[in-house]
Amino acid sequence: MKKRLFSGIQPSGELHIGNYLGAIQNWTRYLDDYECIYSIVDYHSLTIPYDHQAMPERILNLAMMLLACGLTPERCVLFRQSDVLEHTALSWILSCMTTINYLERMIQYKEKAEQHGAPNIGLFSYPILQSADILLYRAGTVPVGEDQLQHLELSRDVARKFNLRVESDYFPEPQALLTPARRVLGLDGKQKMSKSLGNHIALADDEATITQKMKRAVTDTRRMRRSDPGEPNDCNVFSWHGFFSSEAEREDIAPRCRSAEIGCMDCKKILIQNMNAQLEPIRERYAEWASKPAEVEEILHEGARKARTIAQETLREVHALLGLQHQY
Ligand code: TYM
Repeated sequence: MKKRLFSGIQPSGELHIGNYLGAIQNWTRYLDDYECIYSIVDYHSLTIPYDHQAMPERILNLAMMLLACGLTPERCVLFRQSDVLEHTALSWILSCMTTINYLERMIQYKEKAEQHGAPNIGLFSYPILQSADILLYRAGTVPVGEDQLQHLELSRDVARKFNLRVESDYFPEPQALLTPARRVLGLDGKQKMSKSLGNHIALADDEATITQKMKRAVTDTRRMRRSDPGEPNDCNVFSWHGFFSSEAEREDIAPRCRSAEIGCMDCKKILIQNMNAQLEPIRERYAEWASKPAEVEEILHEGARKARTIAQETLREVHALLGLQHQY
């Protein structure tokens, strides 16, 4: 039997190359080796202010993009979190095994609380819901970017506490699966690429938009003039070549950057070309999925049906282990 893998993504805007390189690429790489379950985690998105009228379209667009990346129903389960109510039920149970102290240490909570002010309880207990997402499917492997490592550490702690309480090894301790692009920086070359910071290149961006955005991509900041020598290892644009260009191209560019033979614009042009070549097929498949929204909705429904079957079984077993009754 294949081992089970779970991951989730928030419908908080456009899918960007940080999500893609840091997580979604791994979501697609392991489709054959694992039983893969992926969720659009809309309940998580309620923790910060959002436009409720735009939400249905955001969810659908994200589903279309994930399908375009290759996460098709023949190969994995793709569903919307709020379609499977067991996530919140397990979250409550796990919250009774999590200390406030531990949650207070969460970096993302601190950052978001500062950004949005007057944090709500959902934002605070967010990592418990994330643990429930994973443990509901008893998944041992979770492909994510680096920013989720602390949350995964908490999910291991929660699993351990549950197991101790019921004297069993019922839940596995979920392990993160990282890509080499575990933390992709944004166009500013300083902060993590993120939808909310607007420093991103979206997977849906066409070549003209990528070209436009790349103009403001920060390179080696010490390279002020075309004639200044550059240092590729200190250049975010060069690091992106690592994700889109061949080794031969990188080996060609690096010394020519150091000798100032090649300028930042030339270097960006090669990157744009390679990036576009990789993203164009995804955009094309996205356009195809976008032309059949009813089919995409149906895929999410079917995904939820499959997820629910597993989720209900887990909850039944969890209730039994805790000495609770379960009627369904
Ligand atoms: P989210 O929606 O912010 O991001 C989705 C995935 O993309 C990764 N990622 C990045 N990786 C590298 N560089 C970046 N700049 C970058 N930006 C985003 C994230 O690490 C993530 O893997 N809490 C999660 C969603 C979630 C979840 C789960 C994940 C809810 N339940 C259960 C795994 C398992 C989040 O907000 O991801």
